[in-house]
Amino acid sequence: MKLVIGADHGGVDLKTEIEKYLDANGYDYHDVGTFSHEAVDYPDIGRAAAEYIAAGKADLGIVICGTGIGISISANKVPGIRCALLSDVFSAKRTREHNNANMMALGARVIGPGLAVELVDAFLHTDFLKDESRHVARVEKICGIEKKYCGEEK
Ligand code: RB5
Repeated sequence: MKLVIGADHGGVDLKTEIEKYLDANGYDYHDVGTFSHEAVDYPDIGRAAAEYIAAGKADLGIVICGTGIGISISANKVPGIRCALLSDVFSAKRTREHNNANMMALGARVIGPGLAVELVDAFLHTDFLKDESRHVARVEKICGIEKKYCGEEK
């Protein structure tokens, strides 16, 4: 499984903590930045990570900003992306099982590193329930909205 990870200046320290977990567990990931505390615009990072997935270069993504809100909104504008803003383990599992979320967003000013790593672990260890037709049909409806308003389906 290939991952992509990115954060703005508000999330760069939490990105480092998550990368320690990814390294310790042998994950292959691409880091789209940022790499310092110098201010950057979260839409640029969310877009870069989301486009990496949409291009088929990674399977799942993790994006972080201060609240997780701006970067998740930005990522979700890229066709084919289903990015879930997470702060509890139950939702981290359900969004993979039910929504086939391919990205997760975290708020570095909202949650601590311990919970953040647990959320990442839950997200990466849970699969979409692809044999349960109701979940497949609902995700297809999301794709239908995208097809209507974005002009393409991915
Ligand atoms: C940056 O100050 C902050 O706006 C950003 O990290 C994020 O919280 C936006 O949603």
